[in-house]
Amino acid sequence: MSSSSSAVDLISEFAADVRAGLGHAGQKTLPSKYLYDDIGSMLFEVICLLPEYGVTRADERILRGHADEIAERMGFPAHVVELGAGTGKKTRWILGPLCRRQPTIYYPIEISPAALEICRQELASLESLTFKGFEGTYLKGMEKVGAQRPKGESLAVLFLGSTLGNFDGGEAEWFLSQVQRSMMPGDALLLGTDLVKPLAQLLPAYNDSLGITAAFNLNVLARMNRHLGANFDLSRFRHDARYNSKASRIEMHLVSEVDQSVSISHCDLVVSFRKGETIRTESCRKFKLDEALQMAKRTGFRCKAQWIDEEWPFAVSLFVAV
Ligand code: AVI
Repeated sequence: MSSSSSAVDLISEFAADVRAGLGHAGQKTLPSKYLYDDIGSMLFEVICLLPEYGVTRADERILRGHADEIAERMGFPAHVVELGAGTGKKTRWILGPLCRRQPTIYYPIEISPAALEICRQELASLESLTFKGFEGTYLKGMEKVGAQRPKGESLAVLFLGSTLGNFDGGEAEWFLSQVQRSMMPGDALLLGTDLVKPLAQLLPAYNDSLGITAAFNLNVLARMNRHLGANFDLSRFRHDARYNSKASRIEMHLVSEVDQSVSISHCDLVVSFRKGETIRTESCRKFKLDEALQMAKRTGFRCKAQWIDEEWPFAVSLFVAV
């Protein structure tokens, strides 16, 4: 497939998802993957540096502090896939000990080409690392890696930073089972999950004082203006992050400040908003310690080890496909 026809496919998929999420009565929603274009992915990198957002630092403290042990307990796999690699900074901690032991092939899967390029540069100095990046969705990337990995060679899947929490409801479990299906028994899954914590710690992480998370959220409206011929006036929407205690998740919303109509020409759609009505753009689930363990068990994994960060409650769990 040529790159221009795949770009056209991506726009039609975006238009179909927008029609499905905004063209009906009731809670309007957009899939959170549309937050992560090149601009959104760079804003997310900034979020990871914010003093209020402890997720990335907790993940990194665990990976940095236990890198050799994690590499050893993963069984020094020759093939490493990362779902949502971002810029690759955290992953360096794990790839270092693997590459010191043997040549390692690293397959980062990313929907942002810009992040993928930064990741390639970040890891370029690791000798004996072969970099095979995939631009696209996680499951399509997993399928491709599964097809390339020679029989009998071990594989580890990294799914760090609590991205599993961004799947709604039962989708997280379905997703894990799909990942498991492209793995062989004995392959490792290193999974990060952000844990339940006091609201005073959690809410500012998604409502930061610099307004970076607000920009990250509003960018999805600008993205519809850029690619779908929409006429959202960004000054008439505001970012809001709220905790849904029943679902144990932070929800990011875009709140309409006024009664208004927005036209999205590529979707043949005019969307009406009442003042105060919202679009839910992302859910960030917070797990109890044993919830991720139970979910992994139900989807064909057994837990081999687990590391917890106490400063910002966060878990990295090592699972093995059975
Ligand atoms: C990518 N993911 C793990 C982030 C989270 O915390 O759920 C996404 C995010 N959204 C706003 N801030 C961070």
